[in-house]
Amino acid sequence: MIGRLNHVAIAVPDLQTAADQYRHTLGAEVSDPLTLPEHGVTTIFIKLPNTSIELLEPLGENSPIAGFLTKNPAGGVHHICYEVEDIHAAVERIAADGYRVLNRTPKMGAHGKPVVFMHPKDFSGTLVELEQA
Ligand code: CO
Repeated sequence: MIGRLNHVAIAVPDLQTAADQYRHTLGAEVSDPLTLPEHGVTTIFIKLPNTSIELLEPLGENSPIAGFLTKNPAGGVHHICYEVEDIHAAVERIAADGYRVLNRTPKMGAHGKPVVFMHPKDFSGTLVELEQA
């Protein structure tokens, strides 16, 4: 069912510092910042030959990554994102197998495509995002 690894997301305390490190030290292609108020984050994408890295910085009072950064002040891997052909079929299959989908109704993700998140406790302690391919 799952396809390509779309991205690995890393929560960072300072987006510009992290982006500069990827751009200058690691020599990566780095996007402009994108604010996603609906998700409570500002993101920068790092384009790699086989996937992307999504740097996430908290945006606003109730950012879902604020707690993560309190526990991991230097930042850390926050989630991984797989592509799926049919996000509604994926949600049904996951729920039918008894696993928790955090938002049963897909939200618009950073790429303008619908996304859902699955409960990390049900998936080996990893927050998993599914994105419509
Ligand atoms: Co993501």
